[in-house]
Amino acid sequence: MRYLPLFLDIRDKPCLVVGGGEVAARKANLLLEAGGAVTMVAPALSPTLSRMVADGLLTHLETTFEAGQLDAMHLAVAATDDPAVNREVAAEASARRLLVNVADRSGEGNFIVPSVIDRSPVTIAVSSGGASPVLARLLRARLESLIPSAYGQLALLIEKFRGRVARRLPPAARRRFWDRVLQGNVAEMVFAGNVAEADRALEAAIDAVDPSARQTGEVYLVGAGPGDPDLLTFRALRLLQQADVVLYDRLVSEPILNMVRKGADRIYVGKEKAHHAVPQQRINSLLQELAREGKRVLRLKGGDPFIFGRGGEEIEGLMAAGIPFQVVPGITAASGCAAYAGIPLTHRDHSQSCVFVTGHLKSGAMDLNWAQLCQPNQTVVVYMGLTGVEVLCRELVAHGLPADLPAALVEKGTTAEQRVITATLATLPDEVKRHDVGAPTLIIIGHVVRLRRELDWYRGGTVEPAGAS
Ligand SMILES: C[S@@+](CC[C@H](N)C(=O)[O-])C[C@H]1O[C@@H](n2cnc3c(N)ncnc32)[C@H](O)[C@@H]1O
Repeated sequence: MRYLPLFLDIRDKPCLVVGGGEVAARKANLLLEAGGAVTMVAPALSPTLSRMVADGLLTHLETTFEAGQLDAMHLAVAATDDPAVNREVAAEASARRLLVNVADRSGEGNFIVPSVIDRSPVTIAVSSGGASPVLARLLRARLESLIPSAYGQLALLIEKFRGRVARRLPPAARRRFWDRVLQGNVAEMVFAGNVAEADRALEAAIDAVDPSARQTGEVYLVGAGPGDPDLLTFRALRLLQQADVVLYDRLVSEPILNMVRKGADRIYVGKEKAHHAVPQQRINSLLQELAREGKRVLRLKGGDPFIFGRGGEEIEGLMAAGIPFQVVPGITAASGCAAYAGIPLTHRDHSQSCVFVTGHLKSGAMDLNWAQLCQPNQTVVVYMGLTGVEVLCRELVAHGLPADLPAALVEKGTTAEQRVITATLATLPDEVKRHDVGAPTLIIIGHVVRLRRELDWYRGGTVEPAGAS
C-alpha cells in the first residue's frame, strides 16, 4: 500500500489553498465540506471563488505565494498551474512538517485527495494512489449507484442507540444484534424513508433482546472456488463478511482470504498431500467446539465443498450434534479450470459425458474403475492426479484409450499464474517433468482438449509443447 488512508478532522482548522482557478476551487470546496477554515492565495480568483469570498465562505490573500503564509496553517494545497510554484509550496510546507497536497502529476506533497462518496456520517474514499484519477472517479460512480443515499440516516440511527445496546449486550451478541438490524427490516424502513418507524422498531428490538440467552453459533460450509476471487458467490462473500472465525484450507487463495471480515479469527487447517496440518477428525470437532461457544464459524474450502472436499464428513458431525449449518456451493476446479483453459467439458461433436475422479495413489496404485473411464466420447477430469500421472496414463492406455488422445494439465487454474500444458496420454508424464508442474493441478483428458486451439481466451500464461494434438 503506497498511501495510508486516513480520515482527518479539520473542523475550524486553518487550511491554505494556493491557486485561484477551477482545480483550486474543487479542493477548497472539499475542505469547506469537512469544516476547514480556508484561505486562498492567488493574485486573482475565478468567478466561482470570488462569489464564495463575497459570501464569506473563504478568506482571500490577493497576492502571490510566500512561505510565511503557511505559519499557523494545519494543511496546505498547491493548486496553481505553475509547477514551480507548486513545488515551492510543497517544499516549504514539508519543511514545516505540514500536510501538503499538490494538485498536479508531479508526485510532490505528502498526501493525496481521494474521490469521496459522502453519506455523512458514512464517508467512502477511493484512490488509485495517483495512478489513474479517472479510474478512481469511475469506481466512485459505481459505488455511488450501489450505496443508497439513506446510509447516512441509518448510521445516525445506530449512533443514537449504540450506547444502549453496548450496555445491554456483550460484544459478540452485540455484533450479531447489529448484523440483524443492518440486514433486516429496520434498515429497509430507513431506505424507504420511514425513519421514525425504523426508530420505533429498533427501540422495540432492543427491549425484546434477552441478554442472558445463550446464543447458539452456526457453521457455514463455504466453497471458495478455484482461486479467482471474482468466482465467489454473493452468499459466500456475505458470510465471509459476517463470520467470527474462519477455518481455511491451503487451496484458498490469498485474495479470497483478504475478503474475510477484518476482526474475524483465522485458523489455518490446510492440508497438503501426505502432510495434514490438522487431522480431519480435529477439524470436525473444532467446528463443533467453536459453534458451541456461540460463534459464527465459516469453514472455507477450495472449489466446492461437496466435490472431493470432505464437506459431507464435516456436516455429518454437525448434524449429529444439532448445530445449525448451511452449505454454500463453490465453483469446482473442473468447471473453473476448464472455462479458463478454453476447454469445454462437453461438446455436441466430441464428448457427451464427463466424469470427475480423484487420482491419488494408494501404495503406488490407483483404485479406479478403468473400464468406466475408457468410454468413447467422454471427458475424464482427474483431481489430485499429478503425482500419479504416469500410472494414470499407463492404465488408461492399457484399458483401451488411444495413446494419442489429447490431455491437458491446468496448473493453478483461474489465477494469474495459471499454466496450461497440452499433450497426449503418451506424452503427458514427460511434460509434467519438463515443465516442473506443481500443485494444484487438474488433468483433463478427451477430444475436447483440442478445442483449446480455438477457444483459448484467458491470458494467465501458456505453454504449448511442440507436437501436442
Ligand atoms: C482436495 S481436492 C479439492 C477439490 C475442490 N473441493 C474442488 O471442488 O475443486 C484438490 C484438487 O483439486 C484440484 N484443484 C483445486 N483447485 C485447483 C486449481 N486452482 N487449479 C488446478 N487444480 C485445482 C487439484 O487437482 C487439487 O489436487
